[in-house]
Amino acid sequence: MKFNYQNPTKLLFGQGQISEVRGQIPAGSRVLLAYGGGSIKANGVYDQVMSALQGFTVVEFSGIEPNPHFETLEKAVDLVKEHDLNFILAVGGGSVVDGCKFVAAAAHYDGDHWDIPSGKHRIQKAIPLASVLTLPATGSETNGNSVITRKSTGEKLAFGSPHVYPVFSVLDPDTMKTLPERQIKNGLVDAFVHVCEQYLTFPTGTLVQDGYAEALLRTLIQLGQTYSERDTDEWRANLMYAANQGLNGLISCGVPQDWATHQIGHELTACYGIDHAQTLSIIQPSLLRSQIELKREKLEQMGVTVFALPKTEDLAEKTIDAIEDFYQELAMPIRLSDAKITEQNDIDTLMQIIEGRDFLQAIGEHGKITPDVIKEIVYAAR
Ligand code: NZQ
Ligand code: ZN
Repeated sequence: MKFNYQNPTKLLFGQGQISEVRGQIPAGSRVLLAYGGGSIKANGVYDQVMSALQGFTVVEFSGIEPNPHFETLEKAVDLVKEHDLNFILAVGGGSVVDGCKFVAAAAHYDGDHWDIPSGKHRIQKAIPLASVLTLPATGSETNGNSVITRKSTGEKLAFGSPHVYPVFSVLDPDTMKTLPERQIKNGLVDAFVHVCEQYLTFPTGTLVQDGYAEALLRTLIQLGQTYSERDTDEWRANLMYAANQGLNGLISCGVPQDWATHQIGHELTACYGIDHAQTLSIIQPSLLRSQIELKREKLEQMGVTVFALPKTEDLAEKTIDAIEDFYQELAMPIRLSDAKITEQNDIDTLMQIIEGRDFLQAIGEHGKITPDVIKEIVYAAR
């Protein structure tokens, strides 16, 4: 086992913590306050943030959409430059936080800003950013990752850099009170799949990482089973912390990872506009069935430690069934047809796009998932 681990983001967790924002931003900062389509105005988060920002110069940028668009974010970069802003506060879900990571890096890069998501430019510097999270799902609030969509070309690309970790993030579970059920379920499932992507590969004797991943998976399943209690403080706090811990870099230390479900899922969102988490609940069971021999041991381990299944010959198969049942109980789509993608032409178009992507030629923890295998996975998920 060998790894370097550093997570520089300060976490301010709990009810009432938004007021602490004031003390975390350097005095005299000129702040870009960035948010999405207006949920923060409807639920009082905007007012709390504005009150905490009294005394700072604040310029607002609204309208960052789900699966944030490069085209929209470029306008925020212009605003940062025009007003000489030197701190970014993202208030919203993963899309706003991801979008602000892009803006923070792009404001310090004179070349073509698309070089950042496409990986042509290695980020050297970024404006310090922080977040007030209102939707637990992505873990973006304490990681250095971001996913940006370019509407004009239909690309959805991920980038990562140590320079775009938020300086601090506020996780106040009260902000979740206005979340529509669709977003709560999306968050639960996105977090579950994040842990799976860092766990369901092959055994490496990493007891701490496996044990923590299993605790998170059990927690998320328990939250699914107690979904009727979602309006309690305890339920909200547990989901917010579990989703955060699922993708903050801890459980991936020194272990093999498989982000193939996410990589294929991003193409489904770019092509059809399906919600991020819903692409995962559609693709993951099919991918696991396709890769079952390579993942059998970890699937069996998960079956016993997470789902308490008996040790039978078909334990790995039963574990995948249990994952799928978990999604179905949450009424998440598990087939493309559940998401209203039924036309053969649609799937052919998707496969053409995937075949043309350099970064999708050999994915999965063994690099064995080629476009032909992706095709089988997508077809089996019809
Ligand atoms: O825009 P507003 O009006 O704020 O509404 C949002 C949006 O419509 C709404 N919402 C957020 N908080 C709310 C709320 N509505 C009511 N009350 C609240 N408290 O929810 C909608 C979805 O928001 P979004 O930010 O898009 O959702 P999510 O947090 O699931 O983020 C998804 C994006 O993150 C990327 C995904 O690909 C996708 O683009 N990911 C980022 C990752 C990362 N940075 O590490 C990892 C993930 O795997 C993922 O790929
Ligand atoms: Zn995800």
